[in-house]
Amino acid sequence: MLLQILAVGDIVGEGGQDILSRRLREMKQTYDIHFTVVNGENASGVGITPKQAKGLFDAGADVITLGNHTWNRMQITEFLDREPNILRPANYAGKVPGRGFGVFDGPKGLKIGVMNLMGRLELNPNLDSPFKMANNILKSAECQQCDVVVVDFHAEATSEKGAMGWYLDGKVQAVWGTHTHVPTADTQVLPNGTGFVTDLGMTGAQRSILGMRPENSINIFMGGLPRRFEEAEGVCKINACCFSIDTQTKQCVQVKRVDLLE
Ligand SMILES: [Fe+2]
Repeated sequence: MLLQILAVGDIVGEGGQDILSRRLREMKQTYDIHFTVVNGENASGVGITPKQAKGLFDAGADVITLGNHTWNRMQITEFLDREPNILRPANYAGKVPGRGFGVFDGPKGLKIGVMNLMGRLELNPNLDSPFKMANNILKSAECQQCDVVVVDFHAEATSEKGAMGWYLDGKVQAVWGTHTHVPTADTQVLPNGTGFVTDLGMTGAQRSILGMRPENSINIFMGGLPRRFEEAEGVCKINACCFSIDTQTKQCVQVKRVDLLE
């Protein structure tokens, strides 16, 4: 079958949560989506609470992935151990709650593996190598039972995200980048059949810098005192990509942007 997986860019604040609740189900219908992965690490601006995570599931997310702000709302730690459908980056060094890989039920008995990894370049040098971690997960018995494996690589550097896409080409069916909140125009199927995009973008206020009020960033660049970043208000958007995967050949056949602007 042609399995349609929707990957939704980082949900920013109340605006992001609101548009997802109102429009995700309709998007899933429009594009015949079977399975949806949403990056939720900015639901609180920075971090996500269990209540906000439940809201994203209610909106229609099958799996929530996270990133560098995983621990900004510490209430989430216990929830990460308890709730199998929320993942944090697998390559956090040391002993932290939760898991970075899960196997989920798709349509027609298909097993879908979702991997969440985080980059080190310009983001967090204290992580284990995301490349070696991806390899270890791929070799695990849990992963080998999967029909399809997809990866959310939460990273700052476009070079690191590209390297991950090409490194995993032919080993997984999709790799998408998150974190930078700016959608990239490089959706493609790599030579060995892995669908790839450098960054999905974000879900939140259109008139903003990365979902936040522009004056907050301008203040920093003008040398002002650090202030708390506030979520921007106004009309929102959903940045997302749809990966079409042929489950017979285990190759991605198309990646397309399916952004929704209100
Ligand atoms: Fe991030």
